[in-house]
Amino acid sequence: MAVPLGWGVVSDFDPSVYGAAIAGEYDELYEDELQETDAAVGRLALLAHGGPVLEFGIGTGRLALPLAATGVQVRGVEASLEMVDQLRNKAGGGAIEVAIGDFTRVEVGRDFALVVLAFNTIFALPDQQAQVDCFANAARHLRPGGIFVVEAWVPDLAEFRHNRLVRPRIHRSDRVSIEVVRLDPVAQMMETTQTVLDNKGVRLYPANHRYAWPAELDLMARLAGMRLTQRWEDWQATPFSAESRRHISVYARDDA
Ligand SMILES: C[S@@+](CC[C@H](N)C(=O)[O-])C[C@H]1O[C@@H](n2cnc3c(N)ncnc32)[C@H](O)[C@@H]1O
Repeated sequence: MAVPLGWGVVSDFDPSVYGAAIAGEYDELYEDELQETDAAVGRLALLAHGGPVLEFGIGTGRLALPLAATGVQVRGVEASLEMVDQLRNKAGGGAIEVAIGDFTRVEVGRDFALVVLAFNTIFALPDQQAQVDCFANAARHLRPGGIFVVEAWVPDLAEFRHNRLVRPRIHRSDRVSIEVVRLDPVAQMMETTQTVLDNKGVRLYPANHRYAWPAELDLMARLAGMRLTQRWEDWQATPFSAESRRHISVYARDDA
């Protein structure tokens, strides 16, 4: 798919590129942000009511492995073989079925109680149409009464000055990472390069995000025959408010 990125740049979208580059140190780089994993797993297990779960963008199995350990049946879809290799190398990773492909179109069944798309991965899709397709594909995988759970940040354009932003992410005595971000508010795109510096050297991890406000995601859900039933600001189910910087949104099929 050709993706206009603003500034006249056009690139071919390949969902496996991000994982191929970052897989080897994904868990380490995001260990601080991912401290909520236990809460996320607990919430997802509650929401699934014992039914099977499908994770779009299963990655290294950060959520899927502990969720499966609670007794929930978990399957995944993933574009990056390198991320799946990381999952396979972990205890229990060999037992989780993963379909390699793009979660906007891969089909792996129609009987899931819950489909989850965590950690802002909806924004990894290149444009609005791909995000609409993702909601439709999630709905297609759900049994009647099933739910689609999306975790994403709330865009905060006030962070930017003249559509540019430099922000520190990791600040430790032995590792620093800095994100340099360029904003295209017309296409709702952020082009981010994370630079990681430590005694192994310097690594650059580019990632593009087509961001959307919660209301636009809600409309995508409506197009897919789902409606918003819950919205929290974290996995502990703290109510979403005007101050919330991210959201966990639960969409149910209209026939629920
Ligand atoms: C930010 S990581 C999140 C991984 C995992 N869900 C977690 O919470 O730790 C996003 C994952 O989604 C995968 N991904 C991104 N776009 C995809 C797509 N269109 N189809 C399948 N996988 C995709 C990436 O390769 C990566 O493994």
